[in-house]
Amino acid sequence: MERKARPLRYKKNISAREKFKAYENVFDQATLRVLFKLSSQGYFDELQGAIKIGKEANVFFAIKGKKKVVVKIYRKSANFKKMYDYMAPDPRYIGLKRNKMNIISTWAKKEYRNLLKARSAGVKVPTPYAVYQNVLVMEFIGDKEPAPQLNKVKPDEPKQFYETLIKYLKKLYLNAKLVHADLSEFNILNDNGKPVIIDLSHAVDVRYPNVKALLKRDLDNLARFFKKLNVEEKEVKWIQKN
Ligand SMILES: Nc1ncnc2c1ncn2[C@@H]1O[C@H](COP(=O)(O)OP(=O)(O)OP(=O)(O)O)[C@@H](O)[C@H]1O
Ligand SMILES: [Mg+2]
Repeated sequence: MERKARPLRYKKNISAREKFKAYENVFDQATLRVLFKLSSQGYFDELQGAIKIGKEANVFFAIKGKKKVVVKIYRKSANFKKMYDYMAPDPRYIGLKRNKMNIISTWAKKEYRNLLKARSAGVKVPTPYAVYQNVLVMEFIGDKEPAPQLNKVKPDEPKQFYETLIKYLKKLYLNAKLVHADLSEFNILNDNGKPVIIDLSHAVDVRYPNVKALLKRDLDNLARFFKKLNVEEKEVKWIQKN
């Protein structure tokens, strides 16, 4: 249920409040409270720079001790009707309520759940650490800087990179029972020559209507991208196995 926004109250310490002060004009009060809560639970110390300010989500990196984590914040202005239409046929979301905050938080939870499943199936994705309301905290992929998207930095060994991705899609489909459904060079990071698949918010259950067409589209996007790097399309047989 959506709760009425209350004024921000930071009982515990002033410095914690200072940490989020800079964001008071960026986020609504409820989101600030969620960030504060996750931070007091120890998931991160403070937000640093923005990695990407997107249409649906803002992606920040945050400091946690000496490490970095990524904080993905779904905007309250996200197209929740589209999210609803997208989730409604997924058997995991039968009976989903049309309330805006419920849809956005279910969307964030869905990404968290998909990341966990993918990870357990042996697919390299950022490890999810926490999700609460519209905020997801996950592993930071990169060194000093975030790993670049595949469209920005092409791999030195494209054939191997492509084959690893196909192997990941197979594990995702047969073991995690998921299809990414929004896979392209924009949602793959090139982490020192190794692929990491990101942005699993769209990923659907294999029982989703027309799931094979969605999987085919992901595979076609990969084939199209790697063809430009002179890698031949790989025939995929496991698509029939389900
Ligand atoms: N875990 C991560 N580590 C490093 N960089 C990341 C991570 N997650 C996201 N990014 C960066 O932030 C960008 C946006 O992230 P993502 O693709 O998840 O969001 P989006 O496309 O805005 O989301 P959506 O399509 O769900 O609205 C990515 O392209 C990538 O550059
Ligand atoms: Mg994306």
